[in-house]
Amino acid sequence: MNRQSLIIDCDPGVDDAVALMLAFGAGEFELLAVTAVGGNVPVEKTARNARMLRQIAGRGDVPVFAGADRPLRREPAGAGEFHGAEGLGDLTPFEPDAPCTEGHAVDAIVERVMARPEGSVAMAVMGPLTNLALALRREPALAARLGPVAVMGGARSEGGNITASAEFNIWADPDAAAEVLASGCDVVLFGLDATHQVRATEGRIATLEGLGTAKADTAASMMRFSQRIEREIVGWDAPPVHDPCPVAWLLRPGLFELASCRIQVETESELTRGHTAVEFREEMGGGLPHRWATSADADGVFALIAEKCA
Ligand code: RIB
Ligand code: CA
Repeated sequence: MNRQSLIIDCDPGVDDAVALMLAFGAGEFELLAVTAVGGNVPVEKTARNARMLRQIAGRGDVPVFAGADRPLRREPAGAGEFHGAEGLGDLTPFEPDAPCTEGHAVDAIVERVMARPEGSVAMAVMGPLTNLALALRREPALAARLGPVAVMGGARSEGGNITASAEFNIWADPDAAAEVLASGCDVVLFGLDATHQVRATEGRIATLEGLGTAKADTAASMMRFSQRIEREIVGWDAPPVHDPCPVAWLLRPGLFELASCRIQVETESELTRGHTAVEFREEMGGGLPHRWATSADADGVFALIAEKCA
């Protein structure tokens, strides 16, 4: 099998945890690194959580690097209310048996991508885009060298989830998102328009709980936590599971419909900071260098999660 080389940049985070269980179980990937960024919880916790999840999945072969502890310009802001104070819902933290690999996540991204053939390394980014933006600042040639950069972030028709007009990953570091989108990277953005279609219903969670594996139990536990929290805070019975979407697309592109577009990010306004302006009309100028996920096959995504967590 010709495996896809992949770097996952994340801020675990309950839905990041589901995405990691999916990726750790997918033999189609050569996982070059998991890089942690400050986001849902501070980077000390997101890096520890990535190490915990790696151990649960039995993937000690995948190096974990700690990355940026704050956005490029903005103050750090978390989302602990949706992920729990430690970031992994009801999962009790433990000290993982393997440390982070020496070195910064930004250097790990640059070194791994630049050492491999053009277009051969993809990224799945599912937290604030700070690490990737810093990597592009360090090595601008990274943009042309990278393969597809599948990002969970943004909102268009769905409105925002952290503010009325912005989704958390883009809102948390709008400058990083703007720099990545302007860099020439082949960005595929999985915003709330698609991820709100991918919901952890009772049946889908029960299917995972019936598998009886550590990966499936962990993914189900994260969804149960989200089910309780989103019922309390938002009134939703079936919480959206955002972060597996970019990973699922890399495995099964047919699970999503994409549209070519040009995406710009508001970086200055306090009212609309992090808003993603998704333009589909070529006549508006600037070309259509990005892709935006307009729909998701939720049954297919959950079947894939169950397949890889079995
Ligand atoms: O808006 C959803 C995104 O913000 C997800 O990546 C979730 O983990 C949080 O980081
Ligand atoms: Ca995340």
